[in-house]
Amino acid sequence: MNDTPATAEATSARLRGVFTTAFGGEPALVARAPGRVNLIGEHTDYNDGFVLPAAISVHAQVAARRREDGQIRVVAADLGGAESTFPVEAPFAADAAQPWADYVRGMVVALRAAGHAVPAADLAIAGTVPRGAGLSSSAALAVALGTALSELGGLAIDPTAIARAAQAAESDHVGTRCGIMDQLVSARGVADHAVLIDCRSLDCTPIPLPPGLAIMIVHSGVSRGLVEGHYNRRREQCEAVARALGVAALRDADAAMLEAARARIETEAMARAAHVVGENDRVLAAAEALRNDDRIALGQLMAASHASMRDLFAITTPEIDALVAELQQLIGREGGARMTGGGFGGAVVALLAAERAPQVARALRYRTPAGEAPLVLIEQASAGAGRL
Ligand code: GLA
Repeated sequence: MNDTPATAEATSARLRGVFTTAFGGEPALVARAPGRVNLIGEHTDYNDGFVLPAAISVHAQVAARRREDGQIRVVAADLGGAESTFPVEAPFAADAAQPWADYVRGMVVALRAAGHAVPAADLAIAGTVPRGAGLSSSAALAVALGTALSELGGLAIDPTAIARAAQAAESDHVGTRCGIMDQLVSARGVADHAVLIDCRSLDCTPIPLPPGLAIMIVHSGVSRGLVEGHYNRRREQCEAVARALGVAALRDADAAMLEAARARIETEAMARAAHVVGENDRVLAAAEALRNDDRIALGQLMAASHASMRDLFAITTPEIDALVAELQQLIGREGGARMTGGGFGGAVVALLAAERAPQVARALRYRTPAGEAPLVLIEQASAGAGRL
């Protein structure tokens, strides 16, 4: 749990080594794509709403070289060189023995479905995003693959199209009917900025992170296994409420509309929708507070977001609630903390004065379910995907 992620250099040296062992010779290129932390705006993306994530330094890397036989061969450096091979032009077929390869197979199929002539290739993949932490290791992998294949084939696919294909790979072939946030910020992140995303238009507005404000991520150690069912169920509830209100998505609803329809909507679905409607407003307010470096307002918005995820959307766990409460108490009024990502485990994000971050990290008494001190990352907002 305490393992600090490897650096980009160490990861790329290891990746090149695995590539050479598996395929002989050097890769033609290495691409990288970052994981993300969402500062605020949870479960709003698939409701056409607003989110405020930042790309972070932990990331996925893909080493690539062309092949001439129409096959994709991929090895996973983090899984002891496990390998999967498939024809680049074949329809999606899961590899039952290598489930991790579904992301790769799904991404190739999604890029081809979007009209891109994906080249046959040898690929090696590796990553530094802690898995199960809700920091989007899978989106980072899919976006890194898209970037590597685009570069390798000279396809010049734009970052938003790579993000769309990565989202399709995940929702059509892996199991979660996810929104576009993770993939889009991985593709279009901006160093030292959070990105305000309008998930309907896909407009991305970089919001500078005030100097002296740290992003601290604490992994609860509650791992996010088998959450697809919960996630997809909540998405269905949101879509059902939008239909009942006669709007395209909950983005188009407000509190008064919900109130007026109360008699027609089942209580649990009503609570889910109330979260989304409130959360959209909080994202816009938080973007403004970040612009003004208003740490008190940021703290209040993060606290309200967490309470709403706990009480209305029901995606937190008792461990996460305890960790958030402890961080909020240690941080005080100037900054805040909330769970980040899809929920049911994973990480908590905190915003606080950079000079106080080490002291807050040291003071944390929270222990993971395994009884260990939690992994703490003090993160920089980083640029989106590109070649190394
Ligand atoms: C996961 C999904 C995203 C988003 C978040 C919740 O990370 O992949 O699309 O819905 O959950 O905000």
